[in-house]
Amino acid sequence: MKRVFSGVQPTGNIHIGNYLGALKQFVELQEDNDCLYCIVDLHSITVPQDPKALRKSILDVAALYLAVGVDPKKSTVFVQSDVSGHAELSWVLTCNAYTGELSRMTQFKQKSRGQESAPAGLFTYPILMAADILLYDTDIVPVGNDQKQHIELTRDLAMRINNKYGKTFVVPDGRFLKAGARIMSLDDPGSKMSKSAENIHSRISLLDEPGKIKKSIMKATTDSEGTIRFDIEEKPGVSNLLTIYSVFSGIEIKDIEKKYEGCGYGDFKKDLVDVVTESLAPIQKCFREIRESRELLDTLREGAEKAGAIAEKTMRRVKDKFGLGF
Ligand code: AQP
Repeated sequence: MKRVFSGVQPTGNIHIGNYLGALKQFVELQEDNDCLYCIVDLHSITVPQDPKALRKSILDVAALYLAVGVDPKKSTVFVQSDVSGHAELSWVLTCNAYTGELSRMTQFKQKSRGQESAPAGLFTYPILMAADILLYDTDIVPVGNDQKQHIELTRDLAMRINNKYGKTFVVPDGRFLKAGARIMSLDDPGSKMSKSAENIHSRISLLDEPGKIKKSIMKATTDSEGTIRFDIEEKPGVSNLLTIYSVFSGIEIKDIEKKYEGCGYGDFKKDLVDVVTESLAPIQKCFREIRESRELLDTLREGAEKAGAIAEKTMRRVKDKFGLGF
C-alpha cells in the first residue's frame, strides 16, 4: 500500500479547479492506498485571515472533503495545525533550504507582486508544504499542476537531507491528472482558476447556487471564431470550457466537439450550465447534511490522533538523525 498525502487551504470557497485537479484524485486513490487528507490552515495565514471566518472555512473544507466522497473510514482527514510536527519539521527543512531556490518559486512571485516587502511566510510556504508531505513518509501527492514546482522542491529537500544525514525521508512523487490538472479562470483563460481572484465570475465554487453558475458560465470569455473546438493556443477560453464539460460529463472532448458542430457558443454554454449544475447538486446536498453533523468534529479529532502518531515517529527519526533533543 502506498502512502498518499494532500491538502487544500481553507482560504475561501473551494472551486471546480480544486475539485477536478485535486479532490477527485483524493477519492479515487483512497480505494487502494493509505491516504491522509489535510486542511492546511497554517498555509492560509501567509496572508491575513479573519479568525472567525477561518474557523468556518476549515469546517467547510472538511465537510466538502467528505461531501465529494472522501470516506473517513478509508482516509485520515485532519487539520494541519492540530499536528505540531508540521511546524516543527518545517523549521528543520528551512535550515536546509536556500533563499535562491525559494526566490524562484512562481507562486511566491505572483502572490508578492507589487508588495515592497512580502510576508516571510509567503516566501517560506513551499518549505511548510514540503514538511506536510515528508512528515508522513508520503509516496504520492495528488495535486493540480500549479504545484509541480513545490513538489520538485520537496523532492530536492528530501534527497539533500538523505545524502547528508543518511536515509531520513521517503522521496515523494506528484500525481497530476491528464484532464483537469489546470482549470483556467473563466474571465481570463490565461491564468488558473483561483479562490482569491477578485471577480467571483472567474470561478465556479462547489457551493455556488444554480443562478450564479449560470451567470458565470454565460459570461465566460470565449473568442470571435464561433466554432466549438479544442485548441489551447488559439482558443484557450473555449478549450477550458470543453475540459470542464468533459471531466464533469465523462464524455471525451472529440465527441463533445462533434455534438456541437455547427452550434453557437450560447447553446454549448447553456448545456454546460446543466452539466455543471447537475454534477454539483449531490455534492451540495451532502455538504449541508455533513456540515451540521457532530460526526465532522469527531472525524477531525480522530484524524488528528492518527496523523499525530505517524508524525511523532517521523520527528523522532529526524531528531535522531540531526542530533536534536533527547
Ligand atoms: N485552477 C486549478 N486547476 C486545477 N487544480 C487546481 N488547484 C488549485 N487551483 C487549481 C489545486 O487544488 C489544490 C488545493 O489548492 P490550495 O487551496 O492549496 O491552493 P492554491 O493552489 O493556491 O488554490 P487557489 O484556488 O488558487 O487558492 P488561492 O486563491 O487561495 O491561492 C492543489 O492541489 C492545487 O494544485
